[in-house]
Amino acid sequence: MATDFTEETAADAVIESFGPDTDPRLREILTSLVRHLHAFAREVELTIPEWEYAIQFLTRVGQRCDDERQEFILLSDVLGMSMLTETISNRKFGVATESTVLGPFHVVESPVRSLGDNIDLVGTGTPCVITGRVVSVDGSRIPGATIDVWQANDQGFYDVQQPDVQPRANGRGLFTADANGEFWFRTVVPSYYPIPTDGPVGELLIATGRHAFRPAHIHFIVNAPGHRPLTTHMFVAGSKYIESDTVFAVKKSLVADFEEVTDPALAEEWKVGKVPFSHADFEIIMQPEGHGQ
Ligand code: BEZ
Ligand code: FE
Repeated sequence: MATDFTEETAADAVIESFGPDTDPRLREILTSLVRHLHAFAREVELTIPEWEYAIQFLTRVGQRCDDERQEFILLSDVLGMSMLTETISNRKFGVATESTVLGPFHVVESPVRSLGDNIDLVGTGTPCVITGRVVSVDGSRIPGATIDVWQANDQGFYDVQQPDVQPRANGRGLFTADANGEFWFRTVVPSYYPIPTDGPVGELLIATGRHAFRPAHIHFIVNAPGHRPLTTHMFVAGSKYIESDTVFAVKKSLVADFEEVTDPALAEEWKVGKVPFSHADFEIIMQPEGHGQ
């Protein structure tokens, strides 16, 4: 006869119920999940009203998801789970550029643009030139890498959040590095901004006394032949919230100085209409496939 279900035997009872044909990785994940979940419930002495609240909360998280919005990812983000998974999957080896979260705003195909193009289609905000190069871990230049960039505007909004205000694809561009691995484009300095707070994740932030803001940043996805794809950000040094990103995505190596340029000759060379403007440089170091694994 099976033993009674007790606090001590509960996890084993569930784990032993898995059939022999269960996929080995699924078994490994569920075994660990059940053990940690049961240990958590015992540790906090979870009450039935708390369990009911959690079920209702997760139900509301699901109800807040649609084609445009993924409240579960947002929940994972603010609990640090997205960044933890990202960091485990992309362990940094040596000098390679660190990765960080993708975020929910890479929603439209970035328009193909030429080096030097301006991704700011509006003309407000501080003009900015981003220069950079794509190299391998041994320092050799990688010609022809693609660099997909997207960013919020100077008011802290992505184009998709303001379809009646910003032109479609404002702040977005898909660039190809030249034969020397170099790239550059013009834009405006992005602003810090809040993640969406009008759903259950917003309630969680309020209940735990947290703010909703991310520091100013530009997103990058870099693809280079023979190298692992890289999803990362360039953070604006000195931005508000740089020390307290609500999704924990800041890595010190990704914080860049956006320096004020007052030299009219540089404004001319980089086709920026006026001084002062801002300039930041980003060396992107890619890991060869299989490197460090
Ligand atoms: C973003 O950077 O676009 C982002 C990342 C995580 C949550 C919300 C926004
Ligand atoms: Fe972002």
